Amino acid sequence: MKAIRCRLGKRSYSIYVKKNALAHITTFLKQCGIRGNVLVVTNRRIYNLYFVHLKKCCRKAPVRLFYHILPDGEEAKSEKHLFALYNKLLTLGFDRHATIIAFGGGVIGDVSGFCASTYMRGINFITIPTTVLAQVDSAIGGKTAINLPRGKNLIGTFYQPHCVISDVSLLSSLTKAQRADSLAEVIKYGIIWDQAFFSYLERMIEKALAGNATVLEHIVRTSSIIKARVVERDERETTGLRAILNFGHTFGHGFEAAGNYTAITHGEAVALGIIAAARLARTCSMFSARGCERIEQLINRIGLKRSLRSYGITARRALYFMQFDKKRKNQKLSLVLPTTIGHVKVCSDINARKIRAAIMSLAK
Ligand SMILES: NC(=O)c1ccc[n+]([C@@H]2O[C@H](COP(=O)([O-])OP(=O)(O)OC[C@H]3O[C@@H](n4cnc5c(N)ncnc54)[C@H](O)[C@@H]3O)[C@@H](O)[C@H]2O)c1
Repeated sequence: MKAIRCRLGKRSYSIYVKKNALAHITTFLKQCGIRGNVLVVTNRRIYNLYFVHLKKCCRKAPVRLFYHILPDGEEAKSEKHLFALYNKLLTLGFDRHATIIAFGGGVIGDVSGFCASTYMRGINFITIPTTVLAQVDSAIGGKTAINLPRGKNLIGTFYQPHCVISDVSLLSSLTKAQRADSLAEVIKYGIIWDQAFFSYLERMIEKALAGNATVLEHIVRTSSIIKARVVERDERETTGLRAILNFGHTFGHGFEAAGNYTAITHGEAVALGIIAAARLARTCSMFSARGCERIEQLINRIGLKRSLRSYGITARRALYFMQFDKKRKNQKLSLVLPTTIGHVKVCSDINARKIRAAIMSLAK
């Protein structure tokens, strides 16, 4: 199986994307030099669906598998559950040569990665992402995090995995709504980097929504390549390139906060954020009306709602929360805006009235 390489010098790693990739896990573990004690961190749902299968796939690997169940949802990214995880590793006698495998969505990946990066100053870390979002985004790039009561992802590290195993067959147990929610992130990759990929999505979006494994494999592979190329050039967000991954997110984070993180999901907020950014770029004469229309039509076809009101969020409240976005530089809001489909620009001098108008355009 041809791997995608994320080239980061000594921290380089392979991303394996394939239907039934788990069947080859023994080879992947060997290539990374993984042996001995391995703790699989997961939640009850994934455990029930896939743990027996994972164990079977590992039967010829020179590893001793243990598992740890975290609760479902953001609650798992907490000090309480992180420390329970450290204690589990200690109780099992795990030393510096041990390995953690994150087996789940972005939540499991974030907390397991943080634990792996800090336990005994860093142990081996592998991810087997099981959601579309985790396969196309969170499993790649090395960002780990837990939440504090005062905010999401406030504590974290950069810690690259030893490899990422994206088995697209695992996505078959997701609902259509879960797949739709992640597809906004996928559309983002087409807009920021790859026009041909955007056109592919225009042809195949219904198949992706329906869970067609061949289409999802192409989507996960292409998205993984784009994310890896961006991360390679700006591993720790120092050159500014990684900021383009925030396309749609500055607006989106404002919408999520305005809905108290319950009224609107991350994917829905990013979808609306992408529309707001496209409309804003159009108003600033940076982007064509046709480009704007193509983006809105594609998002429409995922079936996500296109107004803030349908989520019970007022435009005024969204605007208020956007002003707190952590990407604000010197009191100026930094926004990623499209110039054509396949290319974006980071702008920090956009007129506040135009930003306001873009949000107001989503009110109804
Ligand atoms: N580290 C990063 O770079 C990065 C990037 C983006 C998002 N994130 C983080 O990722 C998290 C969101 O990730 P997510 O969207 O994967 O959510 P999630 O991990 O909460 O998973 C969503 C739901 O899907 C279920 N699930 C997972 N895999 C399944 C499967 N194969 N079949 C059926 N159900 C399954 C989970 O149990 C959960 O209920 C957030 O905490 C966010 O902050 C991190």
